[in-house]
Amino acid sequence: MKIVIVGVGHVGLTTAAVLAELGHDVVGLDDDRTKLELLRAGGAPFHEPGLAELVERVTADGSLTFTDDLAAALAGAAVAFVCVGTPSLPGGGPDLRFVERVGADVAREATDEIVLVEKSTVPANTGERLTQVIAREQEARRGGGPTVHVASNPEFLREGVAVQDTREPDRIVYGTSSDTARDVLREVYAPMIERLGCPVVETDVPTAELIKHASNAFLATRLSFINAVANVCDRVGADVDVVAEGMGLDARIGPAFLKAGIGYGGSCFPKDVDAFLHLSRSVGYDFALLEEVRRINIAQRQVVIDKLVEELWHLTDKTITLLGAAFKPGTDDLREAPALYLAQDLLDAGAHVRVYDPVALDQVKERLPDVEVVDDPLEACRGAHAAVVATEWPEIVGMDLGALRDVLDYPIVIDGRNALDADAAQAAGLHYHGVGRGTRRS
Ligand SMILES: NC(=O)c1ccc[n+]([C@@H]2O[C@H](COP(=O)([O-])OP(=O)(O)OC[C@H]3O[C@@H](n4cnc5c(N)ncnc54)[C@H](O)[C@@H]3O)[C@@H](O)[C@H]2O)c1
Repeated sequence: MKIVIVGVGHVGLTTAAVLAELGHDVVGLDDDRTKLELLRAGGAPFHEPGLAELVERVTADGSLTFTDDLAAALAGAAVAFVCVGTPSLPGGGPDLRFVERVGADVAREATDEIVLVEKSTVPANTGERLTQVIAREQEARRGGGPTVHVASNPEFLREGVAVQDTREPDRIVYGTSSDTARDVLREVYAPMIERLGCPVVETDVPTAELIKHASNAFLATRLSFINAVANVCDRVGADVDVVAEGMGLDARIGPAFLKAGIGYGGSCFPKDVDAFLHLSRSVGYDFALLEEVRRINIAQRQVVIDKLVEELWHLTDKTITLLGAAFKPGTDDLREAPALYLAQDLLDAGAHVRVYDPVALDQVKERLPDVEVVDDPLEACRGAHAAVVATEWPEIVGMDLGALRDVLDYPIVIDGRNALDADAAQAAGLHYHGVGRGTRRS
């Protein structure tokens, strides 16, 4: 089947490569010319384990190609996936202009019946809006056009393990409003479903759209819940990691997304929580629970600052090293990374901030010119008054704690991800603070 992917970013490029690997004929399109040129030259536009190798393989055998010519890409295609960004607007709602533009462009350029699938995360009822945009555009520019069936097929991949998640999803969800769209999506995923036997949810368009927002909002809720529990643990002398373990062994609860820390970040959770709140408000429902999830997440960064102040009194002229910048390991994505907010808060408090990250330092320097970037974790800590673990990269978790003690000016470590072995840190001579794990003084 010929498939068009509009927007070859984190989701689009991974989807394109995996669908090509499944045996489809895939054309990737992007309005960022630099990105397209880089991809055509065999380069990788971002860090995602295993993706560059997969893209190289499927472009070499011709099953994935790239173009900036939408009309040519759409010729003979059965389906086009919309994988463009849906960032937050200042009021919290998602900026849907990129999705709208793809709808209008496809309405203008498609010559044959096609299924247009929202893979971007969008609020419920975007499909209906997109259908209106297409009808209006076709009427205005061409006096009509081929049928464009709008469908929703939300994406659940996680950056850092995106290739694996796309190859072996927990479930496939699609919402359609015509038999044609449903049959086309069945055919797209047939080789994957036959191989994996993964569950498929076939539903209508608004329900599929809502499944995505509800899923991310629920995961964010679990994280804010365990962070709130961690804050109580710190006050009563309990260990949140053991609390989470004990909770997670209950089959009704399960262990995932019960890791306390400095809060969630990334390109999805913060914006999707905001968008779901915005949608709820716009339809007259006060989703106060989600408002609180959001508030707890933002407040969680302050926990690190409070622990630093507890140790160092004030932060003016203190040197603080942030170990890790990416919002999670395995990616160089800095969108909404808690470490960047923390760095800015520390700069505002008058501290000198150093940052180490194994892959994201160039982007850190671009985003925060006032921080010092250092490409070795121990060197980054040399002479610092405290180190803060902000991303649980293996390079950071596996650090020699004795060597860390030796290079730090004061032996203070704030483990914002509860990633270090607290006993080992204490034994190495460090004053160790986790989140909801209390303090261990050497
Ligand atoms: N990143 C994730 O982990 C993830 C996971 C699930 C869902 N999503 C959702 O998928 C969507 C895309 O996210 P992403 O992280 O891949 O974003 P991204 O910014 O990495 O990629 C978006 C791409 O779309 C391109 N683009 C924008 N407008 C275009 C247009 N009119 N024509 C062609 N190309 C265009 C951009 O140049 C960019 O390359 C978002 O809605 C996001 O919420 C993301």
